[in-house]
Amino acid sequence: MLSIPLAGALVALGGIALAQDVVETPNFNVTEGLLQFGVNVSTVPALESFNTIQSRSIDSGCAAACASLGFLFGSQKVNAQNSALYNNFTNSFWSEQQLEVQPHCVFRPTHNTDVSVAVLLSRFTGCPFAARSGGHAAFKGASSSVGGVSIWFKDMTAVTLNADKTVASVEPGNNWLSVYSALEPYGLATVGGRASSIGVGGFVLGGGISYHSNLYGWALDNVQSFEVVTSTGIIVTASQDSFSDLYWALRGGGNNFGLVTKYNLYTIPCPTMRGGARVFTQNNFPEVIDAFINVVNNATVDGKAQQYVAFLQNQGLNIASAELTYVEDVADPAIFRQYRSIPAIADSTSTKTLVEYVQYLELDNPFGYREIYWPITVQLNEEFSNWVVNLFYSLIPQVINLKGANPVIIYQGITIPELNNMARYGGNALGLDASKGPLHLMHVAFWWQDAADDDTVYAWIHSFWDQVIAKAQEMGIFDEYIYMNYASMFQDPVAGYGASNKARLQQISSRLDPNGVFQKLQPGYFKLNGAPVTFSG
Ligand SMILES: Cc1cc2nc3c(=O)[nH]c(=O)nc-3n(C[C@H](O)[C@H](O)[C@H](O)COP(=O)(O)OP(=O)(O)OC[C@H]3O[C@@H](n4cnc5c(N)ncnc54)[C@H](O)[C@@H]3O)c2cc1C
Ligand SMILES: *[C@@H]1O[C@H](CO)[C@@H](O)[C@H](O)[C@H]1NC(C)=O
Ligand SMILES: *[C@@H]1O[C@H](CO)[C@@H](O)[C@H](O)[C@H]1NC(C)=O
Ligand SMILES: *[C@@H]1O[C@H](CO)[C@@H](O)[C@H](O)[C@H]1NC(C)=O
Ligand SMILES: *[C@@H]1O[C@H](CO)[C@@H](O)[C@H](O)[C@H]1NC(C)=O
Repeated sequence: MLSIPLAGALVALGGIALAQDVVETPNFNVTEGLLQFGVNVSTVPALESFNTIQSRSIDSGCAAACASLGFLFGSQKVNAQNSALYNNFTNSFWSEQQLEVQPHCVFRPTHNTDVSVAVLLSRFTGCPFAARSGGHAAFKGASSSVGGVSIWFKDMTAVTLNADKTVASVEPGNNWLSVYSALEPYGLATVGGRASSIGVGGFVLGGGISYHSNLYGWALDNVQSFEVVTSTGIIVTASQDSFSDLYWALRGGGNNFGLVTKYNLYTIPCPTMRGGARVFTQNNFPEVIDAFINVVNNATVDGKAQQYVAFLQNQGLNIASAELTYVEDVADPAIFRQYRSIPAIADSTSTKTLVEYVQYLELDNPFGYREIYWPITVQLNEEFSNWVVNLFYSLIPQVINLKGANPVIIYQGITIPELNNMARYGGNALGLDASKGPLHLMHVAFWWQDAADDDTVYAWIHSFWDQVIAKAQEMGIFDEYIYMNYASMFQDPVAGYGASNKARLQQISSRLDPNGVFQKLQPGYFKLNGAPVTFSG
């Protein structure tokens, strides 16, 4: 069984690493690395005769990785195929595409050093891994490993406050409902997700647009520090003062820099909110778009408002559903008056706590469908916003009869206050600033039922965006930024951060992780070198 890791040695190693801002030296020896965590490979049956030199198939490597994890941690934490716990993992993703992945085993760490052991065993055996927090990434293999070890943080759910309650330490098994529920009794919240079941893990590393983002910025701009398992298994805390490059890189770098075992997030007050969806018909779309543009621009005047507008077709009726949220319980905030002057066919506005709000919004995003999110970014432009919506509706007949089809285009602003907040704490990796004015984040969110229709859906969205991008480029308003948390597998968000940020991310990765553990052994999701999947429609 696993002996207690040498806490003193870890601290000492962490200290040495801190001084050099390096965690992996050229002579790093994985066998010796495992010993630091109390694992002597000679005493692990699946590993004692495992020959790391001899080339092996991924399958035999993963058999050894899973057997050794099972030997060390037991079957509650290491779930074999066909077990009930394994099925609970594979059956509980939001999108159907992720449900199709069969890892060799599922590992449920309960402690940060468990994660270190898993990374090192993966290195020792050559078995790939993937990590999952909330499991909301939509595409196949984004947070589950095809044939490898899927690390599920489900049982790491602590939420604790520091002494003066300015920082909440959140383990990666939490979703936003569990975080907000834990903090609400203290009158606090963090800058986090807008629906209950989204995980903390992926959300913060890719961006994180919140109800509070006009006041405080995106989630990644509200992180005091990250506790991270690095390529050697060594656990470091990355903040503006220590491992500052890693801290910068994690704020936008996704899963490329380590596995985060604790998100230390600045707290904010948790007000009672007011909001809901106002639903409009097509004759009013120009007025709705005008209101949308004004609310994006007015974020500089009143940061308490947040909005997105979803354009879709419901039983043949073209509608726009504007989710209008105010982070104070105000009945008639001036910033939303223009929206409220437009006749609505439905309005769910009510007073809600943050905990109630995320539960209410969850209902709009059911599990059980095939899913894709696919965003682009442009400069905010009213004429263009109208043109895109019209194009979208003109193309809907091509796909609306696919079984279960629900094509939606969603408009959000990346406002001036949000962009200004991106400079906090040394800046993040996204490559955005206020110089281009407010930006307009558009994404297609499409769900459907049959796998046989996958390629039709992908080709349709691709062709739609091709036309939109061409027009945006012609108008000089296209922006390369791609929001990682919404990106499809055909997109390359890291390239969208700009050449210099991409180069800096690659340089940080090759210094901290010279063997590319998080690039090669963790192949899923967005890597530093390009899109996960080549579009072949
Ligand atoms: C219904 C719905 C609502 C959404 N609402 C919002 C919203 O309001 N605002 C917004 O900005 N976005 C929103 N999103 C997008 C959301 O931010 C992304 O889907 C995000 O990736 C979800 O994080 P997760 O932890 O649930 O995903 P996961 O699929 O678990 O993880 C995504 C990626 O992050 C990696 N990862 C997860 N945890 C860790 C960790 N601890 N260390 C290292 N890597 C890790 C995974 O390996 C994976 O590659 C929404 C998405 C959906 C489906
Ligand atoms: C790594 O360390 C182990 C144990 O000390 C040793 O047996 C092995 O030869 C080392 N491997 C390399 C490649 O140096
Ligand atoms: C590892 O285990 C083997 C076999 O029990 C033992 O001979 C060896 O001394 C152990 N190594 C260490 C560093 O404890
Ligand atoms: C599977 O998950 C469900 C909830 O999602 C839970 O009720 C059930 O007990 C779990 N089963 C096992 C075997 O853990
Ligand atoms: C919002 O913007 C519009 C148009 O620029 C302006 O007329 C209006 O006064 C603004 N409202 C608020 C509350 O800032």
